[in-house]
Amino acid sequence: MTARPGPAVLVGVTGSIAAFRTCDLVSRLSKEGFRVTVLMTRAARRFVTPLTFETLSHHKVVTSLWTPQTDDPEHVALAREAACYAITPATANCLAKLALGLADDAVTTTALAARCPLIVAPAMNSRMWEHPAVTTNLATLRSRGTVIVKPEEGILACGTFGPGKLASSDTLYAAIVKAAGAPKKLSAALSEHSKKV
Ligand SMILES: Cc1cc2nc3c(=O)[nH]c(=O)nc-3n(C[C@H](O)[C@H](O)[C@H](O)COP(=O)(O)O)c2cc1C
Repeated sequence: MTARPGPAVLVGVTGSIAAFRTCDLVSRLSKEGFRVTVLMTRAARRFVTPLTFETLSHHKVVTSLWTPQTDDPEHVALAREAACYAITPATANCLAKLALGLADDAVTTTALAARCPLIVAPAMNSRMWEHPAVTTNLATLRSRGTVIVKPEEGILACGTFGPGKLASSDTLYAAIVKAAGAPKKLSAALSEHSKKV
């Protein structure tokens, strides 16, 4: 697999029905020249396989903390190098864990180790979205500087209409470029990269 040479972007994927929509975003980030590493929760892997993200990002997908370690644990090394970490879609469960500082998987542990801008894009059923627990957790995250890309209103997977639909790929892409900076044109970046290897 040929890793892209541009700014390092981490994409966390959690267990929402909207997980498949992150495929498009990861493909675009990679094609535009970002070096994308995808991290997935166990629930996310019920919706999309790591192979899909591996193929689209040209990079190994992180699904566990428990891989063979070098001096620097993988989640710490990734967190240190990242220009931006976007968790999309972010489940209600993930928002709660981030708000509390829980770190029981690769997605949340890496979020605690990261000092780069953190973007979360919630997606969930409207009734979950409107629950005070979710509102409070989002307020906590916002107070720490986390960028919340609010879900849109629309027809949800459960067949109802309301807020909770994952923001569009365009909106998420723009938020990531704003946080991480635009990559060089891919053709220029790849040609520079191939001269070095
Ligand atoms: C079919 C299905 C769709 C789901 N979609 C969502 C969703 O859009 N948002 C959400 O917050 N939870 C959703 N869930 C529930 C989460 O998968 C569940 O809370 C899980 O524990 C989240 O784990 P994670 O945050 O570690 O990925 C869904 C569950 C199922 C079975």
